[in-house]
Amino acid sequence: MRAVDLFCGAGGMSLGLKRAGFDIVRAYDANDEALRVHRANLGTSVERVFRVDRHRKADLANLLEMAPTIAQLQPDIIVGGPPCQDFSSAGKRTEGRNASLTLGFAIAIAIVTARPTWFVMENVPRARKTQTYSRARALFVKAGYGLTEVVLDGSRYGTPQMRKRFFSIGRLGEADGFLESALADAAAPRRMSVRDALGDDVGIHPGGNHPLEARAFFMRPYTGHSGVRSIDLPCPTLLRSAHEGPQNWYKDHERDMGPSADIPPLPMDVLSRIQGFPADWNWLDIPASRKRMLMIANAVPPSLAEAVGRAILARARGETIPTTEKAFDKWLQKGRKGLKDQALRNRRLNLKKARRLLCGRVLADIDAEIALLEKAEGFAELSVRSRSELRGALRSHAKWRTEVAAVKALKAERKQYDGMTKAEFNAGAREDEAREADHVPFNPRVAASLQATRQNMREVSSTVGVS
Ligand SMILES: C[S@@+](CC[C@H](N)C(=O)[O-])C[C@H]1O[C@@H](n2cnc3c(N)ncnc32)[C@H](O)[C@@H]1O
Repeated sequence: MRAVDLFCGAGGMSLGLKRAGFDIVRAYDANDEALRVHRANLGTSVERVFRVDRHRKADLANLLEMAPTIAQLQPDIIVGGPPCQDFSSAGKRTEGRNASLTLGFAIAIAIVTARPTWFVMENVPRARKTQTYSRARALFVKAGYGLTEVVLDGSRYGTPQMRKRFFSIGRLGEADGFLESALADAAAPRRMSVRDALGDDVGIHPGGNHPLEARAFFMRPYTGHSGVRSIDLPCPTLLRSAHEGPQNWYKDHERDMGPSADIPPLPMDVLSRIQGFPADWNWLDIPASRKRMLMIANAVPPSLAEAVGRAILARARGETIPTTEKAFDKWLQKGRKGLKDQALRNRRLNLKKARRLLCGRVLADIDAEIALLEKAEGFAELSVRSRSELRGALRSHAKWRTEVAAVKALKAERKQYDGMTKAEFNAGAREDEAREADHVPFNPRVAASLQATRQNMREVSSTVGVS
């Protein structure tokens, strides 16, 4: 699969995808040094995109200018981790200009780059709840992508780090949630510790009554947490300050393994390996200072990217099928026409068989799904009865999905009204009435988001010359 990496940084995501079997045909970033490291280690063709406004903030126009070139590269997949400072729980919480690059990513994929079959967008978990992501999401959906939206914990995917990251994975024509079970299956049953990943020679003995083999290190914690930690646990999310020792601000914590003044932080080459870069990763002439640490901390752990990449490739090749949901079983058993044991087993078996013939695909449009099934190798040779049972299984699964989606949408809509003041609600209701003639349902947040999306679309259209 041909992949383009937007916001490639020093190469964490690219390295993982390369290991999974992707061909990284081009990688983009605004940072020259990150691109040099990327090229030196992965041999990728890289391109610098850089424009800042007078406030020295990155400009969305970068992405739009790149789009025609990206389209010519004909990628099967576009991946990217847009900068997360404006979402990150460790940084500022307002949605600023950097957040708009998430929207830029969506615009580039959904509108301007001839829509690749797949995309992967990675970000901090809180990005999922932002207005910017919900606008980006609306663009993906409108462009025909089915979405798998999951928060994955790096410590279950080969890195000794409790790093939770949000992944939005899109595939054209697919039903939402299509890759969830494959990603859950790829997770390790227990978290990886620093010792599991790097062996016994990391950190120092913390003193006191700890057993001989105990080892500890210092890492700057979030406020109120312990900073002196055991190597028998995963370490916290690596931040740009991970290499710094306790300074005046640190107050010893009751859960510290030893005195913070005696226990040093991990050296940067160890931090780089914790993130998942190999021991011989070449950081060129970039000093082991905050600059290098930022590239390390910014990266998607390569092992996590590799797991996501493997799940995508296996599905694209038809090697996996999604697990049938337990809630679907319950739905089949429910109601007046509820299926009994044998009938239930048959429906499940038929669904599995149909999915295998479909090479694991779950299409959002049931008619298109049945049409694909009819064309699948081996389908025509089945008996009339078997063919009908397979169609029936797909139809009932699609019906269940529609019901689940309707309930979810209703819940989401209700949630949007939560927290509104009575005056806001009444003002909305009055506007509702005024709009009734046009049958436009009113919801202030949806309306605001639609207005902003329309404005964006107008800007994009004028930039790329589409009317
Ligand atoms: C979270 S990091 C990406 C890390 C990368 N995916 C990895 O795994 O190593 C975000 C990247 O966006 C880049 N960036 C910031 N503004 C940009 C812009 N306007 N255009 C392109 N890249 C930009 C930063 O230099 C940074 O490397």
